[in-house]
Amino acid sequence: MNVIGIETSCDETSAAIVRDGILLSNVVYSQKIHIKYGGVVPEYASREHEKNLINTINESLSIANLKICDLDAIAVTYGPGLLGSLLVGLNMAKGLSIGLDIPFVGVNHMEGHLFANMIGQNNISYPYLCLLVSGGHTQIWKVDSESYNLISDTIDDAAGEAFDKGAKILGLNYPGGPEIQKVSANGNPEKYKFPRPKVKNSKFSFSFSGLKTSLLYKCKSMDQEQINNSLSDLAASYQEAIVDTLINKLELAINETGINSISVAGGVAANKRFREKSKMLNNNYQDLSIVFPDMEFCTDNAAMIAVAGYNKILKKNFSDYSLTAIPNLSLDNR
Ligand code: KG4
Ligand code: ZN
Repeated sequence: MNVIGIETSCDETSAAIVRDGILLSNVVYSQKIHIKYGGVVPEYASREHEKNLINTINESLSIANLKICDLDAIAVTYGPGLLGSLLVGLNMAKGLSIGLDIPFVGVNHMEGHLFANMIGQNNISYPYLCLLVSGGHTQIWKVDSESYNLISDTIDDAAGEAFDKGAKILGLNYPGGPEIQKVSANGNPEKYKFPRPKVKNSKFSFSFSGLKTSLLYKCKSMDQEQINNSLSDLAASYQEAIVDTLINKLELAINETGINSISVAGGVAANKRFREKSKMLNNNYQDLSIVFPDMEFCTDNAAMIAVAGYNKILKKNFSDYSLTAIPNLSLDNR
C-alpha cells in the first residue's frame, strides 16, 4: 500500500511516500522568507505552501518512482499549527482524495513527531515516556499502545521558542536552535549562570520565559562589543540552561513513573548538546533506553505524518470531508 504524507502545519512544506510502512521518499522545503523577520509570518507561510506544495508532492512521487495514480491513501496534518498553512495541506489532501478516489486520514502533527522514532528503526516497547520538544510544545507524555497521558507541560514558552527568542536577543537568525548550537560550539557553558527554572507547586512543569528574560537582562548590562566578544559563551551557557532543564524534568518523570524507556521527539531533539548530555542519564539508571529520531526526522517533515497515517489506515481509521483544520489540536484528540 502506497501512502503519501503531506505536512504544512508551519513553515516546512513537505511530502513523503511510504510503502507498507517503509519510507520511500521524504521531501522537505524549508521556507526561507521568514529569516528576515526573525520568526514565522503566518500569511507568508500559507502563501509559500500554496506555491510549493504541488512541486514538493511531484518530487516525492518521482523519488519514490511512483505516479500519482499509484497512491492508495493520503495522510495529512490537520493540527496543531497555523490555520492558513494547515488548510493548504488539508485541502490538497481532500482534493487528491476526491480526484483519485482514495481515502485520506487526518494526522495530529504531535502524534507525527511521536512516530518519528519509528521510521525505519527503533522498536520502542510500551509503555514509554516521550519528551516532545518543538517550537510550540514542551511536554512529557506517557505513551501506551492505545493511550497518551500528559505528565508534564510548559507553563509559558516551549523549549524551541526559548532557543528562537534567545537567538533573537543575541542577534542570531531564525530558527534559533541551530544558530545557538552553531555559535555555542566554541563557547564555555559554565561562563554565565542562567537559571534552571522551577515552577512553584508543580515540580514536573517546564518554564522558559524567566530564562529568556535573564538572557535579555544580561545582554542589556553589556555593550554591543562585549556581547560580540562573548557571543559563544553567552550562547553556550544559555543552551546549557535549556538542556539541563529538559533533562532535570525528564529525570523527575522517570523517577515518578518508574518507566525507563524514553523517546525524544520534535525539533529540539536535533540539538547536539542535548543528545550528548542525555546519554549521561544512562549512568544514573540501569537499563535506561533513550532514543532520538534521525536528524532529518526531528524537525517538521511529512515522513512522520505518512508513517503515523499508515498506522491509522491499517485500523481503517479514515477521515471524512468534514474534517477541518484545528490550530490548537491536542494530542489527547487524535
Ligand atoms: O518540530 P519543529 O520543526 O516544529 C514545530 O513543530 O514547532 O521544531 C522547530 C523548533 C524551532 O524552535 C527550532 O529552533 C528548534 O526546533 N530546533 C532546534 C534545533 N533544530 C531545530 N533547537 C535546538 N537545537 C537544534 N539543533
Ligand atoms: Zn513540529
